Order: sequence, then structure tokens, then C-alpha cells
Amino acid sequence: MKIFIDTANLDMIEEINSWGILDGVTTNPSLIAKEKTDTPSRVKAIAAIVDGPISAEAMSPDSEGMIREGRELAAIHPNINVKLPMCIESLKATKVLSSEGIDVNMTLIFTPNQALLAAKAGARYVSPFIGRLDDIGSYGSDMLAQTVSIIDDYDFDTEVIAASIRGPVHVLEAASAGCHIATIPYDVLKKMVSHPKTDEGIRTFIADFEKSKK
Ligand code: G3P
Repeated sequence: MKIFIDTANLDMIEEINSWGILDGVTTNPSLIAKEKTDTPSRVKAIAAIVDGPISAEAMSPDSEGMIREGRELAAIHPNINVKLPMCIESLKATKVLSSEGIDVNMTLIFTPNQALLAAKAGARYVSPFIGRLDDIGSYGSDMLAQTVSIIDDYDFDTEVIAASIRGPVHVLEAASAGCHIATIPYDVLKKMVSHPKTDEGIRTFIADFEKSKK
């Protein structure tokens, strides 16, 4: 499973990139606003750090605007893909952008059927939101697993990105479902590294090593 980071914060991206495990980055308007910046300049800065796909969200309400904005965002760097929110207008825009070789990440996916339509329109990525479904009492990970199974069953050039990840268990569920990519917040990536028994083991080995030198 490829690992993306879900943030627009350059320090976080630099740190996780230094671990050697980072395959890409996703941003969204809320993450960009948190950094008090704008999408074009921030994704350009991210592309200078990470050698992998970077999602930049287009905000136009209609397909013509999405296509225009998508072309502008994609022109910033070859690694940039255009994030579009799932709707009829974005399906139309996806068809056009994908035919021009511009990758689309269809976001705000909450059902396997939405993912199926996005894949049919030519989306390179579909992003089911696990956490936000859990928030309203549904099983986000079940929806993700069903989506992965449908996308894998057909000959789509589409990868599923597990998004709206809230904790390490979501990552485990995504990996267990055979999900192609998980886009993970910084704090969740940090939690995935550590375990109290690992820390305890390291302390014991160091103490015993010191003793053995005496
Ligand atoms: O980037 C899209 C998605 O990952 C947002 O997650 O936590 O705002 O539901 P969240």
C-alpha cells in the first residue's frame, strides 16, 4: 500500500519524507486554509520536496471552470493531480481532463457507486472518506473494502485512496482491504511508528549493552 500524507504543512511533509516511506501528498481547501496560503503556491512548494503524486483541489462549481482550473493546476508540476468533489459536473470534467492526460482524484466519495462512476469517467484516483462515515454512525471501512473490491474487479486505471483517516486502526483496515493508497495525517503516521513494548525493549537492550561493557 502506498502512503500519502494528508496535509499542506511543509514541515510535516519534510519530516515524513525524511523517513523514506512517503509516496505522495493530498491537500484540500481546509488544509490549505490552516496554513494561511493558497493552493497553487503551496502545491508548487510541496512538489519541490516530494517526488510523487500531489493532489490540488479545484473549487469551480461547474465543469467548464473545473476543466480550466484543472489545466492550470496540472501545469504547475507534472506530479500534480486535480482533486474534484464528486458530482455530475465533476464527472463531466473528469472525462475531459483524463482524456488530456491530466490525473483526477475524485474526492468526497461516500459510496462504492460514486467511486464506480468516477472510475468510469476516467478518474485516476478515488478517495472514499472513512472517518466522516464513522462520524455519522456508518462503517467507513466496510464501504472502503467494498469500493476496493469493485475497482479491482474491473479493468479501471484507478487507484483507491483511503481518506479521512482518524487513527492507526483505519490504516490497518485499509491495508487489510488491499487498498492501493492511504492518505494519512501526520499525527497518525507518528502513532503508527511507536509501541510501548518497542520502547521498553530498546531501553532494556541499551541498559544491557552498557552493563556488558563493564
Ligand atoms: O483530504 C481529505 C480527507 O482526508 C479529509 O479528512 O479528517 O477532514 O475528514 P477529514
